[in-house]
Amino acid sequence: MLPVTELARDARFQRVRVEDTLFDPRNANPAAQQNGLAITSRNASDNARGLMHGIFVGEIQALEGAGRTCFDFDLGEARDQAPFGLKLDMARQCWDEARHVEISCKLGDHMGGEVGEFAEQTLLYEAACNPDPVLRLTGVNRALEGLAIDVFKTMRDFGRILHDPVLDFCEDWMLADEVTHVKMGSDWLRRLTVNDPQRLKDALEFQKAVDKLFSFGGFRGEQEQNPVHLARHFRQLAGFSDDEIEELVGIAAEAYAEALATQTANADDIRAEAAQAR
Ligand SMILES: [Fe+2]
Ligand SMILES: [Fe+2]
Repeated sequence: MLPVTELARDARFQRVRVEDTLFDPRNANPAAQQNGLAITSRNASDNARGLMHGIFVGEIQALEGAGRTCFDFDLGEARDQAPFGLKLDMARQCWDEARHVEISCKLGDHMGGEVGEFAEQTLLYEAACNPDPVLRLTGVNRALEGLAIDVFKTMRDFGRILHDPVLDFCEDWMLADEVTHVKMGSDWLRRLTVNDPQRLKDALEFQKAVDKLFSFGGFRGEQEQNPVHLARHFRQLAGFSDDEIEELVGIAAEAYAEALATQTANADDIRAEAAQAR
């Protein structure tokens, strides 16, 4: 496995820990509970630029992760092996992700951003370091690329509302590719665990943990105030059953409720500290 610290980046890129983004105290601000991508939001363009930068670094890591899955495993069906067909799908995915890196980089320019303007967290690549290829497929292809489906649809609609055909078409084309990447994850998960219920259970639990992290703080949900909404139709095309989509709605709601409780507790702590200082 290639350690995350060894990923090739030039001096423009800034690394940040995923914990620091998820538990950023600014998320405790009531303004963080509004949809920052709504056209009425004062910071909508900055927020959209930040999200585009997140997509750009996510594409780089998706390329790195799929490439590693081609390289890290011997051929075979055991838990520490990967079948040839799976590696072929991952190679195909590398081709798509390399194109997505270029498209996202150019979209960043188009939106007035630059490489390194926002920090990069590396959870996607870290999920792609799982020693079991099936867990990589649930953590990366089903959870994180599933999130990419939701995010790309959000960005496509953002472009549509602004009458920006470049953003609209680019996101729509990438969205079509991501549906196939998630479907690869769904298909291989079913194929490789057909006689191994424990492996299926482990893989779905890993997926759930990753999904919950990225629903944290109300980033993704079904409400108006959630910037990113679940793209139900595209998820169905990608092999998610109706029950799985409902479960994801539940995970998002649970993560949002936990984030609100944490914020209330933090606000209480701050008030108590201030009272003590007085
Ligand atoms: Fe991609
Ligand atoms: Fe992808």
